[in-house]
Amino acid sequence: MALSVKSIKGTQDVLPNESYKNRFIEQTLLSVAENFGFKEIRTPVFEHTELFQRSVGDTTDVVEKEMYTFLDKGERSITLKPEGTAGAARAFLEHGLFNDTMPQKVCYVTPCYRYEKPQAGRLREFHQFGVECFGTASPAADAEVISLANEIFEALDITDIKLYINSIGCPVCRKKYHEELKKYFEKYKDELCETCLKRLEKNPMRILDCKSPVCSKIAENAPVVTDYLCEECSDHFEKVKEYLNELNIEFEINPKIVRGLDYYTKTVFEFVSNSIGAQGTVCGGGRYDGLLEELGSQHIPALGFAIGLERLMLLIDAQEIGYPTENTCDIYIAAMDESALKKAMKITNDIRCQCISAQTDIVGRSLKAQMKFADKIKAKYSMVLGTNEIESNKAVLKNMDNGEKIEVDLENFADNFQEIMLRDEMKAFEELMKE
Ligand code: HAM
Repeated sequence: MALSVKSIKGTQDVLPNESYKNRFIEQTLLSVAENFGFKEIRTPVFEHTELFQRSVGDTTDVVEKEMYTFLDKGERSITLKPEGTAGAARAFLEHGLFNDTMPQKVCYVTPCYRYEKPQAGRLREFHQFGVECFGTASPAADAEVISLANEIFEALDITDIKLYINSIGCPVCRKKYHEELKKYFEKYKDELCETCLKRLEKNPMRILDCKSPVCSKIAENAPVVTDYLCEECSDHFEKVKEYLNELNIEFEINPKIVRGLDYYTKTVFEFVSNSIGAQGTVCGGGRYDGLLEELGSQHIPALGFAIGLERLMLLIDAQEIGYPTENTCDIYIAAMDESALKKAMKITNDIRCQCISAQTDIVGRSLKAQMKFADKIKAKYSMVLGTNEIESNKAVLKNMDNGEKIEVDLENFADNFQEIMLRDEMKAFEELMKE
């Protein structure tokens, strides 16, 4: 049987002519986060299954239905990370980062895996850019983290996106809320799906984000958590709103946001767009003051968010924002024969050592085909080497943008090429200013 060369359902390849877009996105997000004092953390793609059961919560859709879990050869239960927070929190504790000055601010770009029904904006392997801020209970941190997400969308010129915030309280106020929710959903016991029936006993709040149409219809009129907030949670939420107003960040309170993961407390938020279909939540996050304790540490309040990179890129396309142009080749050096190729290879290499991109013929093409290739890769300059050029140690450098040709010395060409490029760029800039 022939080997299957089809990718797995719900996964995506990023091809060479597209990958510069992903790189641009990742670099932009990381650099905005850096401006806010976040430093990159990298954690493994798989963890002990228990980490996600304990943090994300074993009554969530993610843990109950969507995790890629397997036994390794040592019979340990391993799970491909369905999200980035649990791994970052585990690393924070394992490496004693809590001994350092607080808050500890980390950010990451990571692949995530969820066995969901694939559709536009919903994949089985997707990528998150996330930030986590450990060691602060202040509502100012909530506002700062939200403003970081907001700044990311602004940096990318994204306008069609709306911020929704809510507070889902703490274990104290949630006790009363759970009782009320239970009372409400018990009336619909005969209609709820099997999973939600179990949730009714263990964690009724999870019924609120069930994807079944029947359960979500019933959930529409369920009591809302904001009516049950204790004084501390209510004050905290008021402060967050005040700070957001101070920062001129527009938001809408949506008491229906409960988030799909169990670790959240107090502030939760989502940035949602209407331009990319049903999977419009591009960013989700909130505070998780109890998570680190749940993982065995002392009480360390924390918060963060994650942006789905594939959804973000769908949004960029939907808004026709575009990307900075792809980095092309600075110079293509064509060779007419074997000895010219040797010289071309040497010069190409010297140019690359100056951190300038250069290519030559490694295929054995005719001169015509080499020049066609130079056009195709959008080389900014080209040069042809043959017997005459090798003998005289001089060649003609062609600016492929404006067609200008100059004679150059091949001796020390690599050293001089950067200067030539700069001079041409200045000239082009001056021309532009004249217009
Ligand atoms: P989440 O809401 O589960 O939160 O995921 C965050 C983002 O990941 C979503 O808003 C969405 O853009 C993207 N996403 C989720 N599932 C998929 C999927 N199947 N396909 C494509 N994109 C997807 C978290 O994961 C939390 N860890 C966020 C967080 C960080 N909270 C605090 N710190």
